[in-house]
Amino acid sequence: MKIILMGPPGSGKGTQASHIAEMAGVYSVSSGDLFRDNLSRNTELGQLAQSFMEKGEYVPDDVTIDMVMNWIEEPQHSDGFVIDGFPRTLAQAEALDEKLSNTGGVDRVVFFDVPEDDLVQRLSGRMICSSCQRPFHKMFSPPQRENCCDYCGEALYQREDDKPDVVRNRLHVYIRETEPVIDYFEKSGNLRRIDASLGISEVREALKEVLR
Ligand code: AP5
Ligand code: MG
Repeated sequence: MKIILMGPPGSGKGTQASHIAEMAGVYSVSSGDLFRDNLSRNTELGQLAQSFMEKGEYVPDDVTIDMVMNWIEEPQHSDGFVIDGFPRTLAQAEALDEKLSNTGGVDRVVFFDVPEDDLVQRLSGRMICSSCQRPFHKMFSPPQRENCCDYCGEALYQREDDKPDVVRNRLHVYIRETEPVIDYFEKSGNLRRIDASLGISEVREALKEVLR
C-alpha cells in the first residue's frame, strides 16, 4: 500500500501515521520530521529548511522533492509506505506521480478535514518528543508521565512553529499552496475525506474504513 496523508497543520496526520503504517506492515515518514531530523544533525539541508520553517513557509520544491524521493528509494520502502505532509504543492504531486508511474501510483490519498478553530487549539497545546517526534497534547493526548514521551521516555518540547504568529502563516500557506493539491488528487479518484475533528480513536477507525 502506498498511502498519502494530507491535511492542514494540526489535523492529526502525525498522530495517525505510525499506527496506520504498523497496520499495513510498512514504514511511515513525515516530511516535516525529515527536516527536523536534518536540523538536529545540523546539516546544510536542515539549516536551509529552518529558515523557511521558522516563518511557517514551505521549503522550496527542489530540495523537498529530492529529500522525499531519496527516502522512497530506500529498499525497505519498496513494498509501500505512509507519507505524511508530502506532496503539498502541485509540483511535488506531479513529481510523486512520475516517480511512482512504473509501480502503479499512489493507492490512497486521505484528506484530514478539521475546522480551523480546532487546529489552533490542537497546535497551541501540542508537545513533541525530542527523540522520536511523536506528538502529544496537554488536553487531548497527555503523556502518562509529565513531559516524558510514552514511547521512548525522552523529554517533550513545544515546536517553535506552533507559536500563534507562525501558526497563522502556516494556515495561510496551506490554503494557498496545498488546497489545489486536494483538487488534483480528487480528479485522480484516489482521494478519500475523513472527518478528523472527531476524537483520536474515532479518526483511527474512520481511517481503517477508507483504507480497507
Ligand atoms: P510538518 O511538521 O509536517 O507540519 P504540518 O503539516 O504543519 O503538520 P503538523 O505536524 O503541525 O500537524 P499534524 O497533522 O501532524 O498533527 P498532529 O498529529 O501532530 O511540517 C512543518 C514544516 O516543514 C512546514 O511548515 C514546512 O515549513 C516544512 N515542510 C514539511 N513538509 C513540506 C513539504 N512537503 N513541502 C514544503 N515544506 C514542507 O496533531 C496535532 C495536535 O493535535 C497534537 O497535539 C495531537 O496530540 C492532537 N491531536 C491529534 N489528533 C487529534 C484528535 N483527533 N483530537 C484531538 N486532538 C488531536
Ligand atoms: Mg506532523
